[in-house]
Amino acid sequence: MASKTYHICTLPGDGIGPEIIAEAKRMLDEIGSAFDVEFVCEDQLIGGAAIDATRAAGAPVSALPPKTLEAAKAADAVLLAAVGGPKWNDTTPGAVRPEQGLLAIRKRLGLYLNLRPVHIYKALRGASTLRPEFLEGVDILIVRELTGGLYFGQHERMHDVPGAGVDGAAGDKAVDSMEYSEYEIERVVRWAFDAARRRRGHVSSVDKANVLETSRLWREVAHRIASENPDVREDDVLVDNCAMQLVANPAQFDVLVTENTFGDILSDEASMLTGSLGMLASASLGSGTALYEPSHGSAPDIAGKGIANPIAQILSVELMLRYSFQMDEAADAVAAAVEDVLDAGWRTPDLADDATPQDHVLGTTQMGDKIIEAFRARTAR
Ligand code: IPM
Ligand code: MG
Repeated sequence: MASKTYHICTLPGDGIGPEIIAEAKRMLDEIGSAFDVEFVCEDQLIGGAAIDATRAAGAPVSALPPKTLEAAKAADAVLLAAVGGPKWNDTTPGAVRPEQGLLAIRKRLGLYLNLRPVHIYKALRGASTLRPEFLEGVDILIVRELTGGLYFGQHERMHDVPGAGVDGAAGDKAVDSMEYSEYEIERVVRWAFDAARRRRGHVSSVDKANVLETSRLWREVAHRIASENPDVREDDVLVDNCAMQLVANPAQFDVLVTENTFGDILSDEASMLTGSLGMLASASLGSGTALYEPSHGSAPDIAGKGIANPIAQILSVELMLRYSFQMDEAADAVAAAVEDVLDAGWRTPDLADDATPQDHVLGTTQMGDKIIEAFRARTAR
């Protein structure tokens, strides 16, 4: 009997989701035996998979069925893979989309804080589209606000609006509203400052204060919190400039804190510094059960082929160990195992380049095997 049991609500979702989460579960078993903990995983439906299942059952069509939400609330942590795909790209108004399941679970669990660490692996410097010398010293923590702003505002489509069409005719008009309250900004910016204190003491607050009122409020709050934290250096960076700086001089950033939409866009951009979107894990924290997921999507183009990179999913487990279970030693061993495997030259196709020998290009399960092997070597006592 293990000394502790943790219940994890696992959400495979769509596309490559089931393939990569299978590797994370195998990893959890390994971690459990090495650290005397039992992880009990229970799969639930989310995204397109949930839409199909609820429709087939004649239940109300939903991307986040009530049973899934209840299981997530009751669990010690949630591990999610990915949602979405062309099959569910129904653009008719009112249609249920897989992404709604993801947004809803974040909201319903109160997960307002999203962490996306951008770590450069020495072995992958050549895999980045940037020249290696630009990656020297890059280590960024992106703190993204996750339950406010544009994605949670009012979305509306109006038809036959006079003058909205071409050449003065009537036509369609659409509105997405962006709102932020002070407390929503305060709690994420404060977290960013606390995180910066444990890192290199520098917060870059990203906004568009030269245009947006929400950004002006964001900046005011950031300045107030900065004045309470004189030991942390704070910069304001306009989001367009930030997008440019991330490829021009990424090493200047330590903690980057920003609102929901900007964080969504900038984190995809920053992931390419690491060589592949398949490397970026994320942790969503807040008032309810914490949720861990790769930053990437469901990659429908390669789904079912067994070639997806499981590393971001496995690194999501690493974050889970740190933030939900205070198992830092185990988390360090997972991170080190990934590093060892990359150092030994093993690659999934997204990480391979011209210099990678064919016999070093691995599928999803084989990459999982290598990481488990390295983890065992690291934790053997
Ligand atoms: C992400 C994703 C989601 C988001 C989508 C799938 C709704 O892009 O986690 O970054 O925009 O938050
Ligand atoms: Mg995104």
